[in-house]
Amino acid sequence: MARLVVISNRVAVPKARGAAGAQGGLAGALNAALKKHGGIWFGWSGRESQAFTGDINIQRHDGVTTATVDLPHQDVEEYYNGYANSTLWPLFHYRLDLTEYERETGKGYERVNERLAESVAPLIERDDLVWVHDYHLLPLGARLRAKGVENRLGFFLHTPWPPTRLFVSLPYHERLVRTMLEYDLIGFQTNEWLESFCHYCKKELGADTDEATGRIEYKGKVTYARAYPIGIDYDHLMAQADSGEARQAGQRLLASTRRRTAMIGVDRLDYSKGLPERLDGIGRFFDRSPERVRDLVFIQIAPPSREDVESYQRIRATLEQKTGQINGAHSEVDLVPIRYVNKGHSLAELCGFYRAAKIGLVTPLRDGMNLVAKEYVAAQDPEDPGVLILSRFAGAAQQLDCDGQGAVLVNPHSPDDLAHAIQTALDMPLAERKARWQAMIGTVRDDNVQRWTESFTTDLAELDTDTASG
Ligand code: UDP
Ligand code: G6P
Repeated sequence: MARLVVISNRVAVPKARGAAGAQGGLAGALNAALKKHGGIWFGWSGRESQAFTGDINIQRHDGVTTATVDLPHQDVEEYYNGYANSTLWPLFHYRLDLTEYERETGKGYERVNERLAESVAPLIERDDLVWVHDYHLLPLGARLRAKGVENRLGFFLHTPWPPTRLFVSLPYHERLVRTMLEYDLIGFQTNEWLESFCHYCKKELGADTDEATGRIEYKGKVTYARAYPIGIDYDHLMAQADSGEARQAGQRLLASTRRRTAMIGVDRLDYSKGLPERLDGIGRFFDRSPERVRDLVFIQIAPPSREDVESYQRIRATLEQKTGQINGAHSEVDLVPIRYVNKGHSLAELCGFYRAAKIGLVTPLRDGMNLVAKEYVAAQDPEDPGVLILSRFAGAAQQLDCDGQGAVLVNPHSPDDLAHAIQTALDMPLAERKARWQAMIGTVRDDNVQRWTESFTTDLAELDTDTASG
């Protein structure tokens, strides 16, 4: 089996997992992949240095070797806070209103991709499979090719890919996508994002695309683009759910609800997660049925994220204000309808909370996949499962809708739709809760992160990228 060289912006050592809280879905997935294949996980250390030295810090934890470099402040500002999180992230989540186009941050993004490529190239051995992740590193593969790296190069995008009409608002969009076509395989979370990407390649670049196989031929080079929906590490999650820490967390939550049904949301504090819109829906529910403040308590866990970016500071202020308004309008002296928790929790604690909460509220405006939705389903008690309310705009909806028999799908922009879904979930009989959970658990258990890794790396190793074979 070939070694894996995984390259991503963030590298999370297994020990730190959970404690980091808001590290997102990518980190856990990659740890699982590397444990199996062996190899190296390379990326930014998350630390700033005076100047870029290129010094690589190599560590081994729990069977995974990590190699990281520090970046100077200007690089972090322009590449991470700037182009990645103020240009690409909002654009890829269809938020043109928040997308900033600055030439300087674009240059910083290119510079850091070059620096990372230069640092990692000497670590790559002849038969390694190289697997690059996410929007921070779109041009990294092309930079490696320019340094003579001839290995199989794969790329996986964890976010959505926007429709062509939105994407063309990005200056130099053609150049960016042309560099992506240096990869041998490009993976997306869902068919929807895959179709948008292929549409762009065909329409704007004039590439030859074959929808059946995902083969894209452009200027004598063949790339494959396919959908690989990411899953959770099911066995790891079940072990965490079975721990004393999870039980304690669940009991703590139940003891505090005083027989009210707990409804939970768990999201990085990010505007793509639809948190203000979610609060509007909850506000609408309590406005319509004020007496139900005795039946329902909403707990929102929202660890801060990307705090140096202005749009993230604004979303935080908006949420504080909306929570205050709803609590002000609907609290009793002994009851508060919304608990808003601004810190991260370990996966074990989350599992305890998920199981104790009879409604899971996952309502992003746009999300590549959303692992919280799958974790919520996995952590339920099969004899008394909770109801998942899920945005139709999350990648996860494509798997968890189950022809209308799984999650309760909602339009997160509509407060009426949300309020109605909350009422449906609150009043849902046990038999229906069980049937809906049964419909979802198979895909959550079987389409797990191990299967995701296997299918991507197998395709990467085996695809025929010979131009003559098309
Ligand atoms: N998470 C966590 N602690 C928290 C909040 C979230 O460990 O306090 C984890 C959560 O369990 C999930 C991930 O962060 O695995 C979030 O992944 P998701 O795909 O839902 O969203 P992302 O943050 O990647 O956009
Ligand atoms: C999403 C992105 C990841 C990112 C994570 C946490 O899952 O797809 O690439 O690592 O959010 O965001 P952060 O900016 O803290 O790394």
